Amino acid sequence: MSGQPGKVRVAVVFGGRSEEHAISCVSGGAVMAALDPERYEVVPVGIARDGRWVLPDPGQRLTITDGALPEVTGGTPVALVGDPEARGLAVLDAGSAVGAALTEIDVVFPVLHGTYGEDGTVQGLLEMTGLPYVGSGVFASAASMDKEFTKKLLAAAGLPQGDHEVLRDADGAVCADPGFLDEAARERLGLPVFVKPARAGSSIGITRVTDWSQFPAAVAEAAAVDPKVIVEAAVPGREIECGVLAARGSGLPEASLPAEIRLRPGVDWYDFAAKYLDDAADFDIPADLTPEQTAAVQKAARRAYLAMDCQGLARVDFFLTEGPDGEDELVINEVNTMPGFTPISMFARMWAASGVEFAEIVDRLVTGALAGAARPAR
Ligand SMILES: Nc1ncnc2c1ncn2[C@@H]1O[C@H](COP(=O)(O)OP(=O)(O)O)[C@@H](O)[C@H]1O
Ligand SMILES: [Mg+2]
Repeated sequence: MSGQPGKVRVAVVFGGRSEEHAISCVSGGAVMAALDPERYEVVPVGIARDGRWVLPDPGQRLTITDGALPEVTGGTPVALVGDPEARGLAVLDAGSAVGAALTEIDVVFPVLHGTYGEDGTVQGLLEMTGLPYVGSGVFASAASMDKEFTKKLLAAAGLPQGDHEVLRDADGAVCADPGFLDEAARERLGLPVFVKPARAGSSIGITRVTDWSQFPAAVAEAAAVDPKVIVEAAVPGREIECGVLAARGSGLPEASLPAEIRLRPGVDWYDFAAKYLDDAADFDIPADLTPEQTAAVQKAARRAYLAMDCQGLARVDFFLTEGPDGEDELVINEVNTMPGFTPISMFARMWAASGVEFAEIVDRLVTGALAGAARPAR
């Protein structure tokens, strides 16, 4: 394939092997539509649920149509070329392992969420092939995906987060032993607790435990997703999110106006159904906060981005709660290095409310990745 002269060739990678395959397709379609055709040549790259990389067939649907979720199924098989000099994708001949044609790529935009997308794995692959890419590098992606190490790094930077315990047992026996969280820890954490797989997303494998009799089953459910399980004290408070973008050029990252997720009465927490299926939440964009509260959220979001060593973008999720004397207290829940990325996603809407339109975000991220290409591996 020959490139269009003068244009930057961007491979937009979407789909992937995680539970968030469909939302990644929607995000990928949105990114491609937002790239200015005068300046960019888009190479769509789909990853099927089973991990095959393809140049999708023309007409690949990337929107949710009549409730049907998009999915990468077929296309021309491609593979990344290991040789960094080649900078690209090889189109694979059917029945042959030999690359039939090379597609040179200037920069990759991996719009992938969750496992094998947001966790440092695809970032490692791209590092090895010498291709610059949008977003956080290997370390920040892996650390932000892991709720234990997110908490450790935030704590080291003096950033607040909730009380918790980590249960680990490589062979999964952790849930068979009713004594795995001792009495003192149970008393300290109190009820309810949130039991979570350490590395997951979309609330998958999480249980809100209101009675210790439910605890072993909750741990088993989380351990089925990840052998490392986090038990968190419940933080009563408002759920606040904030978008962070790297500065254009050099300089400190910028934070968007925050948003609030307000769960409807009777909805205890933002579980999978509440996120994607039910009409369970209202969104205030921007959140109804005082100027001081807004500034505090933005400062903490930027500090969290830096503490986790993020690049390009992140969405930092908080609880805003009350301290012992009724004062505001911010608790960081998690850092997402590739948040939902459609124009109707929280990340884009928070930036739109802050005066930065979707196409500008996309352009800024691609430009930033190209500018960072000269830097050593991350
Ligand atoms: N410690 C906590 N206290 C109160 N609510 C929580 C706590 N942890 C999680 N939740 C609720 O569960 C939801 C999902 O948890 P989260 O850790 O964000 O998982 P995921 O990474 O899957 O999004 C949150 O949005 C919130 O509603
Ligand atoms: Mg979350």
